[in-house]
Amino acid sequence: MTIPTRVISILLLAAASTLMAQPDDTIKLKPSYFEVNDFVNDNEACLRCHGEMKFKIEDPGSERSIHKRMYPDLIIDREAYYTSVHKTFSCTDCHSYDFNTFPHNIETRVEEQFLCMDCHGYDETFAQYHFEDIETEFQESIHNIDEFTCWKCHDPHSYKVFMRNADDLKEAILYDNNMCLKCHANFDRFTLLTDREEINVLDAHDWLPNQTAHIRSVRCIECHTEINDSILIAHKILPKTEAVQRCTECHSSDSRLMHTLYKFQSREGRRSGFVNGVMMNNTYVIGANQVPLMDKFSFLILGLTILGIAFHTFLRIRKQKTD
Ligand code: HEC
Ligand code: HEC
Ligand code: HEC
Ligand code: HEC
Ligand code: HEC
Ligand code: HEC
Ligand code: HEC
Repeated sequence: MTIPTRVISILLLAAASTLMAQPDDTIKLKPSYFEVNDFVNDNEACLRCHGEMKFKIEDPGSERSIHKRMYPDLIIDREAYYTSVHKTFSCTDCHSYDFNTFPHNIETRVEEQFLCMDCHGYDETFAQYHFEDIETEFQESIHNIDEFTCWKCHDPHSYKVFMRNADDLKEAILYDNNMCLKCHANFDRFTLLTDREEINVLDAHDWLPNQTAHIRSVRCIECHTEINDSILIAHKILPKTEAVQRCTECHSSDSRLMHTLYKFQSREGRRSGFVNGVMMNNTYVIGANQVPLMDKFSFLILGLTILGIAFHTFLRIRKQKTD
C-alpha cells in the first residue's frame, strides 16, 4: 500500500530537518515516541498548540504575544497518539499541510478526510480484520447518517486494538463501552450529528437489574448488534426495538455471548461443555430468585471459569504463534 503524502513528508523531512527549529519543551517528548515515529519533531509544530491546554500566538508586526486556551476537544494526548494503531504517522499524513498556517483558513478546516477503507480496503495485509465486511455492516447500521464516519467511534488520535488481543477482558469491555458513551453520555457530541432529543442511557436501561455490573461485564454491542460469526466485532447497530432484552439470551445454555463477547473462548467452551453448563445452571437463580449471595458465588465461579478459559486460549494462541 502506498501513501504518497508519507513519502513526501519523508522527503521534506530529509531536506528541511536542519532548518527546523527545535520545540521549546523537549521534556514532554519521551524517547519511546522517537522509537515508533520518525516525525516527532514535525508533529510538535502542531502539538505545541494541540498537545497543550494553552498556546501562544505572536504578532510579528507588533511583537506582541498572548496566551489562549485550547478548546478541550482539540487537545491531543501525545502518549495516546504514540501508542495508537497509527502511531507511526505524521499529522500531515492525514491532514493538509495548510494547517501549518495559523489561523487555519476555512478551506483547510472543511478538508475531506481519508476514511479507513481508502487505506485498508481490499488490502491483504489487513485481511484478518475483514474491513470490507465491517464497512457493509456499518452501512446497514442506524448510525449511517450524514457526517457519521468510522472515525466517530475510532478516535483518529488514540484508537487501539483491544478485544482481539485482550488478556484483560474487563479492560477491553471498558474501552469498547467508552467508545459508545463518548456520545451516549455526552449530549454535546450526540447533538452535533442529529436533531433528536437527548437520550438518557441510564433511563433507557432501567429494566436491566444491576446496570453497573452488567455494563462492566458485557459490551453495549452484545445487545445492540446482530450476531455475525465471520467478523470478530459486529458493527451493525440495530434500531432500539431490535435490541436484546430477554435475560435468557445470555443467561441460558446457548448464550449469545458465545457468539459475541466470548467468541474466542467459546470454541474452547463448546468442546468441554463447561461454560455452557455453568451459564445454564445460573439461568433462573439469577433472574428470578435474587439470592444475592448465591448469585455472587455462582458468578464468581462463572467468572473464574471464563478467566481460566481465556487464559488457556491465550496460551494456545501464544503457542500457535511461536510454533
Ligand atoms: C498556533 C496554534 C496552532 C497550531 C500551530 C496549529 N493549530 Fe490547529 N487549531 C488551532 C486552534 C486555535 C484551532 C481552533 C479553530 C480555529 O481557531 O481555527 C485549531 C483547529 C484545528 C483543527 C480543527 C479544524 C476545525 O475547524 O474543526 C485541525 C484539524 C487542526 N487544527 C489541525 C492542525 C494541524 C494538523 C496542525 C499542524 C500542521 C495545527 N493544527 C497547528 C491552533 C493551532
Ligand atoms: C490517521 C489519520 C490522522 C492522523 C495521523 C492525525 N489525524 Fe487529526 N484527525 C483525523 C480525522 C479523521 C479527524 C476528524 C475526526 C472526526 O471526524 O471526528 C481529525 C481531527 C483532528 C482535529 C480536530 C479535533 C478532533 O479530534 O476532531 C485536530 C485538532 C487534529 N485532528 C489534529 C491532529 C494532529 C495535531 C495530529 C498529529 C499529532 C493529527 N491530527 C494526526 C485524522 C488524523
Ligand atoms: C491514511 C491511511 C490510513 C487510514 C485513513 C486508516 N489507516 Fe489504519 N493503518 C494504516 C497503516 C499504514 C497502518 C500500519 C501502521 C504501521 O504498521 O505502523 C495502519 C494500521 C492499522 C491497524 C493495526 C493493524 C495491525 O495489524 O497492526 C488497525 C486496526 C487500523 N489501522 C485500523 C484503522 C481504522 C479502523 C481506520 C478508520 C477509522 C483506519 N485504520 C484508517 C493506514 C491508514
Ligand atoms: C458505533 C461505533 C463504531 C463505528 C461507527 C465503527 N466501529 Fe469499528 N469498532 C468498534 C468497536 C467497539 C470495536 C472493538 C474495539 C476493540 O476492542 O478492539 C471496533 C473494532 C474495529 C476493528 C478491529 C476488529 C478486529 O477484528 O480486531 C476494525 C478493523 C474496525 N472496527 C473497523 C471499522 C470501520 C472500517 C468502520 C467504518 C466503516 C468502523 N469500524 C466503524 C466500534 C465502531
Ligand atoms: C459520535 C457519536 C456516537 C457514538 C460514538 C455512538 N453513537 Fe449511537 N447514536 C448516535 C446518534 C447521533 C444517534 C441517533 C441517530 C439518529 O438520528 O437516528 C444514535 C443512536 C443510537 C441508538 C438508538 C437507535 C434507535 O433506534 O433509536 C443506539 C441503540 C445506539 N446509538 C447505540 C450505540 C452503540 C452501541 C455505540 C457504540 C458501539 C454507539 N451508539 C456509539 C451517536 C453516537
Ligand atoms: C443487556 C442488553 C443491553 C446492553 C448491555 C445495552 N443495551 Fe442499550 N438498550 C437495550 C434495549 C433492550 C433497549 C431498548 C429499551 C426500550 O426500548 O425501552 C436499549 C436502548 C438503548 C438506546 C436507545 C434509547 C432510546 O430511548 O432511544 C441507546 C442509545 C442505547 N440503548 C445505548 C446503549 C449503550 C451506549 C450501551 C452500553 C453502555 C448499551 N445500550 C448497553 C439493551 C441493552
Ligand atoms: C448481554 C447478555 C446479558 C443479558 C441480556 C442479561 N444479562 Fe445478566 N449478566 C450477564 C453477565 C455476563 C453477567 C455476569 C456479571 C459478572 O459475573 O460480573 C450478568 C450478571 C447478572 C446478575 C448478577 C449481577 C451482580 O450483582 O453481580 C443478575 C442478577 C443478572 N445478570 C440478571 C439479569 C436479568 C434479570 C436480565 C434480563 C432483564 C439479564 N441479566 C440480562 C449478561 C447478561
